Amino acid sequence: MIDQKIVEEIKARNPIEDVMAQYASLKRAGSNMICSCPFHSEKTPSCTVFLARQSFYCFGCGAGGDVISLVRRAEGLEYTEALEYLGRRVGIDVITSDSDAPRFDKRRFYEMNKAAARFFRDILFNDPAGAMGREYASRRGLSEEIIKHFGIGYAPDSFSALHPYLKNLGYTDEEMNAAFLVGISSKNGRPFDMFRKRLMFPIIDVSGNVIAFGGRIVDDSDARKYLNSSDTPVFRKRKNLYALRYAKNTCAEKMILCEGYMDVISLHAAGFENAVATLGTAITPDQARLMAKYTKKVVICYDSDAAGQAAAEKAIRLITETGTESSVLNVKGAKDPDEFIKKFGAPAFSKLIGESKSKFRFTLDGILAKYDVKDTDGKVRALSEICKMLAGVYSSAERDIYTREIAEELGVNPEAIEADTKKIMRRLERERKNKERDDALREVSGIGDRVNPEFVSNVYAANTEEQIIALLLLMQENRDLLIKNPEMLTKDDFVTDFGRKLFVAIMQRADGEFVESDLGAELNVDEMSRLEAMKMKRYNLSENGEKEFTELCAALRAEGRKKSVTDKELSASELAEYFLSINKK
Ligand code: UTP
Ligand code: MN
Repeated sequence: MIDQKIVEEIKARNPIEDVMAQYASLKRAGSNMICSCPFHSEKTPSCTVFLARQSFYCFGCGAGGDVISLVRRAEGLEYTEALEYLGRRVGIDVITSDSDAPRFDKRRFYEMNKAAARFFRDILFNDPAGAMGREYASRRGLSEEIIKHFGIGYAPDSFSALHPYLKNLGYTDEEMNAAFLVGISSKNGRPFDMFRKRLMFPIIDVSGNVIAFGGRIVDDSDARKYLNSSDTPVFRKRKNLYALRYAKNTCAEKMILCEGYMDVISLHAAGFENAVATLGTAITPDQARLMAKYTKKVVICYDSDAAGQAAAEKAIRLITETGTESSVLNVKGAKDPDEFIKKFGAPAFSKLIGESKSKFRFTLDGILAKYDVKDTDGKVRALSEICKMLAGVYSSAERDIYTREIAEELGVNPEAIEADTKKIMRRLERERKNKERDDALREVSGIGDRVNPEFVSNVYAANTEEQIIALLLLMQENRDLLIKNPEMLTKDDFVTDFGRKLFVAIMQRADGEFVESDLGAELNVDEMSRLEAMKMKRYNLSENGEKEFTELCAALRAEGRKKSVTDKELSASELAEYFLSINKK
């Protein structure tokens, strides 16, 4: 649990309009502000930021809530993580007093990791136990200079080398284990070194903290060629990039994205200090955004095998989504960039960068490789796929250039390609409109309600529940009323599980200082959005006090009893009608 005072302090110092401005551009609209919703694509803004009550609600997609819900959704964070994020934004340290999640001091972790890196380095440089590491490093052509530059070290072939060293420095087994440096044997409970017989690559964040390690086995004694730290209190592998600390200084124009540690190290050694790599996983949206923060263009430089090329397609997609340019480079004649540099040298790699394929060219070549375009039938099929791709190009100028290029290459009339592309675009537009209409209808009838799947078959009761929840959230006096008269409404009177869950969560917190945001600890962002929607429906009604509340409670109790007798289902049109009628009120 996080101290409620801190939650309130964090909210107070992060005005929702400031935080929303990170994701959308806001315009004044009376006493509120409006923007295009950051959570679904739309042409006319339907998202409102309510300044007085510090919440947002999108009338298009139903996303809504306070500033914490906003950040959870926008950054893909859990409740506590979102609080930490907002805390960092304004310089407040969020200390969680969660009893089952052990609390760790991040600074101690950074120190411990640094000590481990120093330990591995000393073994590599000076220790008899480092002989295999030295041999391997020289076999891989790593100079002393580059080893020092990247802080590379060696984890000796021993179950108990790093552990006693760190223990001696005062770190606990629990800390070492949480940092992925030490494992605890399930057989005898004894701690053991996680990395053994591996060349160690420290992973260092942009501020220079050692946050994790990657370890390369120096022979084939383990099927896992690389062992990487799993996520720890100071490391999220999906949110970091290897060597970004160095690359960030030289990557304004372009950044080179590789698959492996060794690729990056070879590239840096050859003077390409703008190279980074993912950390043992395929590229993630977070990493794409991270690159977009530092560079205008990413040159994707994956292994030349089929897997590498398939991974490049995913990378292009994620990078394009961040609005960053990308191109793809193929290390012809080598398996990966590391081998390419060693075989052909730095100037050849420079040349390769110059020849890297645009995102468009890469996709086009992928299509052309699938069909025999000398054959008419093959050409027709290739063109049909190409037109689909062109239909996805947003800028008409860009589309025009590509159209001409392809027309010339395949010896067909550009007007024909253009006409086909337009046809596809019109169809897509039609489909989009239909989908919008279907979504709206579904919304109105409650069909496909993922947050409360029982809504559709219990419209009246569920709607009453939602109003009760809204009144409980809006007015302290309603919560007090229920605390004094618990028989007025109990959790068993609720018809839907979702309504019951909300009721229980609210009443658990109703005694004492009630902080609505704290419900976020139990509810996901969609559920939090729903709370906002419930409140929305009541905000504009002037009467939200005890009288209305009492009536609604009575209605739900009666409905609950009726429910157990008959289980009436409404038809879709009855539902739609019902909804329209309550929205009009
Ligand atoms: P590669 O298999 O291409 O390794 O994996 P590499 O970089 O060419 O390594 P060398 O040259 O054989 O030493 C690329 C990346 O995938 C991750 C590592 O991050 C590696 O750098 N990987 C690979 C793992 O995490 N585990 C593995 O077992 C293999
Ligand atoms: Mn490789």
